[in-house]
Amino acid sequence: MVHANHLTVQSDPPYPVVIQPGALADALLPFFAARDFSRVAVITNTTIAPLYGDALADQLPNSLLITVPDGEQYKTLDTIREIYTRLLDGGADRSSVVIGLGGGVIGDMAGFAAATFMRGVAFVQAPTSLLAMVDASIGGKVGVDLPQGKNLVGAFKDPLAVVADTAALKTLPDVEFRCGLAEILKAALIGDPPLLDHLMQHGPQPVEHIIERAAAVKIKIVEQDRLEHGPRAFLNLGHTFGHALEQVSNYTWKHGQAVAVGMAAAVRLSERRELCPSGTARTVEHALAKLDLPTRYTGIDPARLWDAMRHDKKWRDGAATFVLLADIGQPVIVRDVTRAEAVDVLESLRE
Ligand SMILES: NC(=O)c1ccc[n+]([C@@H]2O[C@H](COP(=O)([O-])OP(=O)(O)OC[C@H]3O[C@@H](n4cnc5c(N)ncnc54)[C@H](O)[C@@H]3O)[C@@H](O)[C@H]2O)c1
Ligand SMILES: [Zn+2]
Repeated sequence: MVHANHLTVQSDPPYPVVIQPGALADALLPFFAARDFSRVAVITNTTIAPLYGDALADQLPNSLLITVPDGEQYKTLDTIREIYTRLLDGGADRSSVVIGLGGGVIGDMAGFAAATFMRGVAFVQAPTSLLAMVDASIGGKVGVDLPQGKNLVGAFKDPLAVVADTAALKTLPDVEFRCGLAEILKAALIGDPPLLDHLMQHGPQPVEHIIERAAAVKIKIVEQDRLEHGPRAFLNLGHTFGHALEQVSNYTWKHGQAVAVGMAAAVRLSERRELCPSGTARTVEHALAKLDLPTRYTGIDPARLWDAMRHDKKWRDGAATFVLLADIGQPVIVRDVTRAEAVDVLESLRE
């Protein structure tokens, strides 16, 4: 792959993560020009197709553009079935490749289609949202939702490459950009203290720099724990509280915003337990504010949030699993958080 600077995920086999403005034209097209796939299926949605999908498909050899509706509500087996049909109608076979061009919803679905179509075809991630660039496109987890819950069906499917064209971020809605920043801050808190300093001093610029640093944190974690038995759980900092807030609010809270409040809660709890130095919670709340992310919520009874947390699929054997911080950059898993503690912390963040 042609690129100025890239990261590598040491998987089996290793794959590059290219992060640069213009990467679709400068890295993705040359990659395919040098290879011979029977079909290059670009899977995208109705928002991304007119922005980037049509132009990309026009320039790729043997291309096939598959456009699905935009939204998490379409991350379903019904859409996957539609994708299989379109692949077959378009002449795709075992020597074809699937490119997921879009946010995390598209990446997860395109990857799942690639993992299963004809028992698996080659796959490339072309993330266009900030969240997908730093999180969803890396690590090989792909899948779809069921009516019973999110991401309940899936597979591990490594891509041949991740190609993040940062120029695409100019059309990303601001609220989606903020949601990506929440995951970038998360990466700083669990694995890159200098990234936190950078965010505090310079905000989210230059975006390539903060994407690269956050992606590197995720890469390091998935390299240690590809199949999610151990340290991969650290990626859930802020997510136990966050998922509850998303759910109880009926998803009027977006994931990244909910995770932002969730991180504030996790660090407050860490401080109350004297796990981390005092002042850590203040630092994290400052960082959240600096990135225009919420640190408080209104309404919702904390007891309802606790009930929602208890039904999180990550709570094995009914034990509360929280990621807390021993310090910036030092996540720890804690399994004995009590209802009283959690409700108390959540109450302190309620306006
Ligand atoms: N596989 C993993 O490891 C992993 C990790 C985290 C999240 N996820 C999944 O990722 C999904 C969330 O991803 P997301 O936050 O990217 O949401 P998303 O895919 O819904 O994208 C958010 C919105 O932004 C639009 N968009 C994306 N890029 C754009 C661009 N460049 N210009 C204009 N609009 C653009 C999308 O069309 C969509 O409307 C969830 O389904 C989640 O489960 C997966
Ligand atoms: Zn997340």
